[in-house]
Amino acid sequence: MSTTLLLASILATVALLVRYVRSRRASKYPPGPPGKPFVGNILDVSPQGAWVKFTSYKDIYGDIVYFHGLGNSVLVLNSLEVIADLLEKKASSYSDRPTFTVVGELMNLFQGMPLLPYGPEWRTQRKLAHSALSPSSVKKYHIIQEDLAAMLCREILDDPKDFFSAVRLAAERLVLIITYGLSADTADSQYISHADETMHMITKYTVPGAFLCDLLPWMKYLPSWLPFQREAARGREMIERLVATPFEHVQRDMAAGIARPSLTLDLLSSANSDPNTLHHIKWMSGALYGAGGETTYSTVLTCILAMVMYPDQLRKAQEELDRVTGTDRLPTISDRGNLPYVTALIKEVMRWRPVLPLGLARATAADDTYRGYTIPKGTIVIPNVWAIAFEPRGLYSPEIFEPERWLVSSKEDMPVDPADWTFGFARRICPGKHLAENSLFIFISTLLAMFDFAPPDTGHVKVEFEQGMVSYPKPFECKITPRSESKAMQIRERASQSTV
Ligand code: HEM
Repeated sequence: MSTTLLLASILATVALLVRYVRSRRASKYPPGPPGKPFVGNILDVSPQGAWVKFTSYKDIYGDIVYFHGLGNSVLVLNSLEVIADLLEKKASSYSDRPTFTVVGELMNLFQGMPLLPYGPEWRTQRKLAHSALSPSSVKKYHIIQEDLAAMLCREILDDPKDFFSAVRLAAERLVLIITYGLSADTADSQYISHADETMHMITKYTVPGAFLCDLLPWMKYLPSWLPFQREAARGREMIERLVATPFEHVQRDMAAGIARPSLTLDLLSSANSDPNTLHHIKWMSGALYGAGGETTYSTVLTCILAMVMYPDQLRKAQEELDRVTGTDRLPTISDRGNLPYVTALIKEVMRWRPVLPLGLARATAADDTYRGYTIPKGTIVIPNVWAIAFEPRGLYSPEIFEPERWLVSSKEDMPVDPADWTFGFARRICPGKHLAENSLFIFISTLLAMFDFAPPDTGHVKVEFEQGMVSYPKPFECKITPRSESKAMQIRERASQSTV
């Protein structure tokens, strides 16, 4: 490191130390684990799998737990009550996102809606997304979702061992078709493997403290040959390619007059050629593509894992499906109201292993006081969804997988519906919620109507989850067999007639 850089680092460190000591003297912060000089307790915020630790801190420190050090502060929210008080009632201060120096600034991801600061650019992208994903707009995707559910089952019929790939294809094809109008074949050949790799990287790095540079932002000026800088350059190229390639595909097809209907086509057709508008359409479409696939993929896989482990619940869902749809047709999205057990089972999957156990972090836009404590501007705010999922509430223990908890007659005996917390909160609530709920329903109900799921011959089912922002099941083996020849024929017929 050059002498100038060394000097700059020392000065920055001293400045942080002085700020830290002054601020600790003047204010009363929320409770949290004991800290060490200078680094405080910030290193307790481990980037991987922190939700279980944060939940255990709830018993010691309560609903709000505070971490600080190295010029950073992090506030963990451990109950729906504090989430409502801060993220909803004080939404104008609590709707920003953290900077994420590496993934946001150096890799450029902050240009898309999920990481955009709360302000006019975010509002523009959010409006564009709403036009495509409102409850009434998503009805036009029902047929595509039902076709993709049949194609998912056909892939599994053809190669039951590779169900992970089949689920991933279905989830990503859906967002590619809706967002860019790309046919399933084009999507598979050109985009999906790159999207896999890029999203894997993004979910690993979009957690507070993934890089030391996220805690010490001045490090972003360090030389480009350092390993984290090289990783940032690689990530920047991957993200640009993820966002630009399908967008340019639509522009080319539009110019040739052969573009298929899609959200990007609709927006481009009614947009002017102002580069700023095109920039927003490009990044908003890219955000839907990135955010939509991973979450659906992970939830469907979690359901398959639960079905392997809980055969009684699988059987009850299948009995209900057989009763309602009979043996001569596949489920459709309009069946949902007649399938209360299947609906309860999907809610339970979302509660049992929440796909984003720490939601998506927020940041405070101004200094705040809450319950007499100081919460400084720029504090990273983490809604600990895991603590909500596992709060003992209602008739059944939170530890067990039990769809019945959602079927009790009185609301007081029931926990809070995951639809009210797995998709986030208030102004930044997931804009893909309605689309996602339909996808989960049709993918899961078609899978359960079609297949039996059982442990592999070894009898051992591996139950392990990734520890990044999105918590997917790690690869596990199971036996998947069709329940009847007539259903298998229906699947093949529907999948072969599909135009997606
Ligand atoms: C099981 C499925 C899904 C789950 C559990 C989920 C969950 C979430 C959560 C927790 C957030 C953060 C909200 C907050 O900060 O309070 C979020 C944001 C977001 N989601 Fe989803 N999501 C799902 C599916 C989708 C789909 C299908 C799409 C798009 C097609 C999508 C697009 C987005 C976008 C663009 C944001 C950023 C919103 C913003 O920052 O304003 N999500 N999602």
